[in-house]
Amino acid sequence: MKKAIRYAALLCAFLAVTSMTFAQSGKGNIASIPSVILNNGVSMPALGFGTLDLNDSVGINSVAQAVLLGYRLFDTATIYGNEEAVGKGIQKSGMDRKKLFISTKLWVSDMGYENTKKAFERSCKKLGVDYLDMYLIHRPHGDVQGSWKAMEELYKAGKIRAIGVSNFDSAQLANLVAKAEIKPAINQIEINPFFQEPELVRAIQQSGVQVEGWSPFAQGRNGLFTNKVLVEIGNKYHKTAAQVTLRWLIQQGIVVIPRTSNPAYMKENLDVFDFQLTKADMQQITTLDKKTSQFPEWN
Ligand SMILES: NC(=O)c1ccc[n+]([C@@H]2O[C@H](COP(=O)([O-])OP(=O)(O)OC[C@H]3O[C@@H](n4cnc5c(N)ncnc54)[C@H](OP(=O)(O)O)[C@@H]3O)[C@@H](O)[C@H]2O)c1
Repeated sequence: MKKAIRYAALLCAFLAVTSMTFAQSGKGNIASIPSVILNNGVSMPALGFGTLDLNDSVGINSVAQAVLLGYRLFDTATIYGNEEAVGKGIQKSGMDRKKLFISTKLWVSDMGYENTKKAFERSCKKLGVDYLDMYLIHRPHGDVQGSWKAMEELYKAGKIRAIGVSNFDSAQLANLVAKAEIKPAINQIEINPFFQEPELVRAIQQSGVQVEGWSPFAQGRNGLFTNKVLVEIGNKYHKTAAQVTLRWLIQQGIVVIPRTSNPAYMKENLDVFDFQLTKADMQQITTLDKKTSQFPEWN
């Protein structure tokens, strides 16, 4: 019961911030990105910037450009091989580091207590930062308990503002929560119109953990950007299929991290806070669910 009340309060806070921002915002500006409040009280942008495959100069320039356009949350991972590029992009933007929310992930080969501490230091060095806003266990493999203990210590030492996981199913998340001293703040999972995972989303939210969706566009697979349902819904609001997709996720209380190296798309993806999908629109999008990961090669 307590959990349900807490979840309801968190959802209300999310919606309150969202609707407040709708009322205040201009188009695609910095103020237009609302925040979610994580279960440890830390505030996190509800929309951020994915960086998979944005390496070297493309990574540096895309991140710098995204900061200038108003993105504040940046999602990277050790396995992307671009933490250095992301760090350089942030430096290039000239933005005060404290105004950014930098998130990276611990890769499978670095699992375990000692390895996690070392991997954390390496990531910080590459990113050019002395603390992380968020650190996630990338996949539920290997010594999860050992890694979590190391992350809890780094969190308590003030070196990470929020710790979480990625690609955990409900049972894996519940198992970690049961043993953890510090509850995960986030579970980052694949969610897009073709893989909606309603039960998993509900289970994560009900446990008071924030859902963050990866590959919101399924990288354009299955013709997402020209999908008839998404395009027709978008036409009603003068929005694209991409914007409808992001809005559909945000209205479910899910943090989104679309990725692009194209500045026009960067702006388009920010411009999703001045319209609202109806219940009927949301319902229609549920019909697109193929109930299967769009990235079977990663599983
Ligand atoms: N935790 C995990 O296991 C995991 C796994 C995968 C991804 N992620 C995270 O999630 C982020 C997002 O997922 P993703 O990179 O896989 O793919 P995505 O965001 O679903 O799709 C990226 C693709 O969409 C295109 N695009 C972006 N905005 C567009 C728009 N408005 N109109 C038309 N096309 C648009 C991009 O085009 P351009 O190529 O032209 O820029 C790019 O080809 C990643 O970058 C990463 O940070 C996490």
